[in-house]
Amino acid sequence: MRSHPPITCALVTGASSGLGEEFALQIAPRVGTLVLVARREPLLAGLADKIRAWYPHVAVAVFAVDLRKQEEREKLVETLKERNLHPDLLVNNAGLGDYGEFASADWDKLQAMLQVNIEALTHLTRLLVPEMILRGGAIINVSSLASLLPIPDFAVYAATKAYVSGFSEALRIELKEHHIPVVAVCPGPVRTEFGKVSRRSPDSPGMPAKKSFYVPKEKVVAEALAGLDRNAARVYPGLQIAAAALVLSALPMFALRFVMGFRPRR
Ligand SMILES: NC(=O)c1ccc[n+]([C@@H]2O[C@H](COP(=O)([O-])OP(=O)(O)OC[C@H]3O[C@@H](n4cnc5c(N)ncnc54)[C@H](OP(=O)(O)O)[C@@H]3O)[C@@H](O)[C@H]2O)c1
Repeated sequence: MRSHPPITCALVTGASSGLGEEFALQIAPRVGTLVLVARREPLLAGLADKIRAWYPHVAVAVFAVDLRKQEEREKLVETLKERNLHPDLLVNNAGLGDYGEFASADWDKLQAMLQVNIEALTHLTRLLVPEMILRGGAIINVSSLASLLPIPDFAVYAATKAYVSGFSEALRIELKEHHIPVVAVCPGPVRTEFGKVSRRSPDSPGMPAKKSFYVPKEKVVAEALAGLDRNAARVYPGLQIAAAALVLSALPMFALRFVMGFRPRR
């Protein structure tokens, strides 16, 4: 049984690739309107065509937005109102990582991570939640298994996701009285463009992860949406990831610190 009223209009950020594209595809059969947001408009337009062909009942609107920029976020929400689009599902999925030591990190990339992973997610939620309180709604925030850990060489990324999980938990309590579920989805490694974007150069190493830990994006999104339907606070998609999350959540910080000290570095 669904814990929330039917969704009529879903807004997915970062819909041009990876998990965001998959969210759009899996949400499409459940909604009347989909709003797709990212910077790469041609990819969004291609996805919109595919969704219209597969689900002719769904209206798809595409917005090329650089989520780093406050004025673009505000313009997006203004335009939605002008076009009478009222998202009652917000999927804050857009995000990026940066793999490498902190001391040599490029500030622009660190700033982009803070702006997209934290600021845009918080700002879009702030802009859309008042109307959700009036009309009903639901929020999915894409966090990460990394939110549970201090990760050397991934320090800022993991910390942005700790923010996403913490913010989602508190917001969930605030919005409970309005019957607006908030779900933090915490995937482990998934094959998307994330790995490429996280690398500092094409030949620099990527984040080390066991092959068996990878979970297909289809499964991540299916479990996220099932989590929303049963009003789960957090979803760790995939059995191995869920088991790892259980162990990590039970460990005290001194033990995590000790274990992470032995983690293979770049
Ligand atoms: N893949 C993994 O292993 C993994 C694991 C745990 C959590 N996650 C999280 O899952 C989410 C989706 O990532 P993914 O794996 O699907 O990676 P991805 O394939 O690189 O997708 C990232 C999406 O974010 C969008 N984006 C990035 N910067 C943006 C900006 N300034 N403005 C607007 N959109 C922006 C990108 O669109 P444009 O480039 O077109 O703007 C793209 O659609 C992220 O929050 C990520 O942290 C991923």
